[in-house]
Amino acid sequence: MEKNFKRTTVTSALPYANGPVHIGHLAGVYVPADIYVRYLRLKGRDVIFIGGSDEHGVPVTIRARKEGITVQEVVDRYHYLIKDSFEKFGISFDIYSRTTSKTHHKLASDFFRKLYDEGKFVEQVTEQFYDEETNHFLTDRNIRGECPRCHNHEAYGDQCEKCGATLSPEELINPFNAETGHPLVKRATKHWYLPLDQYQPWLEKWILEEHREWRPNVYGQCKSWLDGGLRPRAVTRDLDWGIPVPIEGVEGKVLYVWFDAPIGYISNTKELCDGNPEKYGSWETWWKDPETRLVHFIGKDNIVFHCIVFPSMLKAHGDYILPDNVPSNEFLNLEGNKISTSKNYAVWLNEYLEELPNRQDELRYVLTANAPETKDNDFTWADYQARCNNELVAVYGNFVNRALQLTQKYYEGVVPACGELNDYDRETLSEFKNVKENLESLLENFKFREAQKEAMNLARIGNKYIADSEPWKVIKTDPERVKTIIYISLQLTANLAIAFEPFLPFSSERLRKMIDMESFSWEQLGSTDLLPAGKQLPKPELLFTKIEDDVIAFQMKKLEDTIKANEAAEYKAAPVKDIIPFEDFEKLDIRVGLVKDCEKVKKSKKLLKFTLDDGSGEDRTILSGIAQWYEPEQLIGKRVLFIANLAPRKMMGEESCGMILSAVNYNGDLSVTTTLDDVKGGSQVG
Ligand code: MF3
Ligand code: ZN
Repeated sequence: MEKNFKRTTVTSALPYANGPVHIGHLAGVYVPADIYVRYLRLKGRDVIFIGGSDEHGVPVTIRARKEGITVQEVVDRYHYLIKDSFEKFGISFDIYSRTTSKTHHKLASDFFRKLYDEGKFVEQVTEQFYDEETNHFLTDRNIRGECPRCHNHEAYGDQCEKCGATLSPEELINPFNAETGHPLVKRATKHWYLPLDQYQPWLEKWILEEHREWRPNVYGQCKSWLDGGLRPRAVTRDLDWGIPVPIEGVEGKVLYVWFDAPIGYISNTKELCDGNPEKYGSWETWWKDPETRLVHFIGKDNIVFHCIVFPSMLKAHGDYILPDNVPSNEFLNLEGNKISTSKNYAVWLNEYLEELPNRQDELRYVLTANAPETKDNDFTWADYQARCNNELVAVYGNFVNRALQLTQKYYEGVVPACGELNDYDRETLSEFKNVKENLESLLENFKFREAQKEAMNLARIGNKYIADSEPWKVIKTDPERVKTIIYISLQLTANLAIAFEPFLPFSSERLRKMIDMESFSWEQLGSTDLLPAGKQLPKPELLFTKIEDDVIAFQMKKLEDTIKANEAAEYKAAPVKDIIPFEDFEKLDIRVGLVKDCEKVKKSKKLLKFTLDDGSGEDRTILSGIAQWYEPEQLIGKRVLFIANLAPRKMMGEESCGMILSAVNYNGDLSVTTTLDDVKGGSQVG
C-alpha cells in the first residue's frame, strides 16, 4: 500500500445463481478474498467485505428451462444454497445479498439513467436474429446453425464445438433457435452502447502507466485488450429477465447483466450501511472517498469487465473511486480436467460439507496451498489427502498437540515459568521473529500461497523445536529445563493460532479456546509472552485428524462416475452401414453355442479360448479377444451367439472356427450377449 488509505472496500465476484458453488470458485476468489479481509480485520483496519449473487443474465434462464422451473425459483434456490455454503466455509462477508434486491434495481437503474441523461451512451440500431414464433431476440448461445467451415449442422452462434471455430451468429448457415429448432429472421433493434473507444486513452494511462503493480496476468490481459483497440459495448439486451431499461417507451429490454452486476457491489454496500449506519457509516464513504481503497477479487474470465468496462462506467458516472487493485486468479482444474458446472464435473461445496463434515479448514488449506495465483493449477484428491495428513496433522496438529498434552501431563494444564534460555531456544525464537513481517508483505501483495507457507513454516519451527528438545526424555534428568521448553512451545502455539486465523479460521478458533485466549490481534504476532506463566489451560482436543483412504476413494469414484455418465450422455451411435439385400443376410449362419469351457490363451492378454457345444456333437473352438473384460469362469455355462460359417483362422497357433458376437459399448468396453435362456446349442438365429 503505497498510498495511505483510511479504509478498504473488498469485493468478490458475484457468482451466477445458476448452480451451486464449487472448489474452483472458492480457490479462485472467495478464499483469497477472505484471507485478505480477515488479515485486515486482525490488523484493526477499517474494511468491508461485499458479496452477493448475480441473478440476471442468460445463465439463470437456461438453468430454469433445463429444470422446468421459473427463473425466480432458480435464483431463489441457488442464492440460498450458495450463501449457506460460503457461510459454512467461513467466508466472512459483511453482506451477501442479491442483484434481484429492490435496492439494487433502483441503484442500477439510476446509474444507467444518469449516464443516459448526460449523453454518455451511443444509440445504435442493428439487425439481430429474431424468432417470429416465440417473439424473441436470441442470444448468441441460443442460436444454432450450420458451421461455415466444417458444415456441422449444430454449431453455436459463438462457436462450433466440432471444429473449434469462433463464430458470430451472422456466419451460420440457416440459423435456428437452439431450443425449438425454429428458423430465425433478422430484425432491427435499438441498443445503448458504452463507447469504450472514447475511454481508451484514459484507460491506457490509468492501467498501463499507473498500475504496473497489478499481477502480470491481469496487467497482460488489459494490455492485450487495449492493444487490440476498444470498441463500443452494448449495455442493454433484448431479454425479459433483468432490470428494465429505464427509458420511457422502451419495452422488452433490460440492462446487460455485466452492466448491472458490478453495480451490485455498490448496491450491496448501500444495503449493508443503510441497515447498520452506526457500525458502517455512510455507504458513500466506501465508494466515493478517495481515501478508500477499492479491491476486486475475481477469476480470470472476469478481468476485462473489472479492469476496463466497470472502471469506464465508474469514470463516466464521475463521482466514484476506481479499483486500486484487481487480484485475479487463473483457473483450478480437477484431477486434470476442466471443472464444469453444466457437466456436473466439480467438487460442489454443499456436497463436500455433507460428505466431509467439519473439514472446511482442510479444504481451505489445500486450495490456498495450490492456489492458481500465477497459472492454472490442478486439485487432486491424492494431494488433498497428502497435504492434510503430512502437513496439517503431522506438522501443525502434531506440534500443538504435543505442547498442550505435555502441559497437562507435567503441570496439570498450568503454563510453566520460563527459565534461562539456551542457544537453541534463542536460535528458534530468532527464526520465528521474522514471520510477522514476512507474512505482512506477502499478504499485502496478495501472495496468499506463499503467505500460508510462511505460517506453516512457523509450525515446522515449533515441531522441530519440540522434537529436538525431547522434553519427554529430559523430564527424567532436568525437570527445570522442561519448563522452559514447554513455555516456549506454548508461546509458539499461541502465535500459530493468530498467524493461521486468516487462512484456517475454524481451527484457529478451536485452538484459541484450547489456550484460553480471549481474542487475537495481529500485533500480538511475534510476542513470546502471550500465555503468562501460571495460566490454567483447559483440556485440549486434537486440532486435526487424518483423512483415511476410503474417504478419498469415495470422492474419486464420484468423479469417475460423472465422467462415465457424461460419456454415455454424449455417445452417439455410429451411422448405419450401407443397406444389403436379404440374401446377403441369409449367408450369415448365426447360432447359439453353450460354453462348455473357457480359458485364457497363454502369452496373450486379449484372447480367450472357448469350447462350445454347437449342437453338432463335436466341440467347436473359437478364440475371442475379450480377455480384458471377462474372467473365463464368468462365461462357463453361459449361452453365446456365434457365427458358425466364418472361414477358420489361426491365432496364436490355435485354430478359431467362427466368431463370438459381442457389443462394443460407447467407451470401448466389450459385452458378450449371454442372456439367452434355455436355447439348445446349435439353434439358428435370424
Ligand atoms: N457472475 C459473474 C461470473 O460468475 C461474475 C459477476 S462479477 C460482477 O462470471 F462484478 F459482475 F458482479
Ligand atoms: Zn465447424
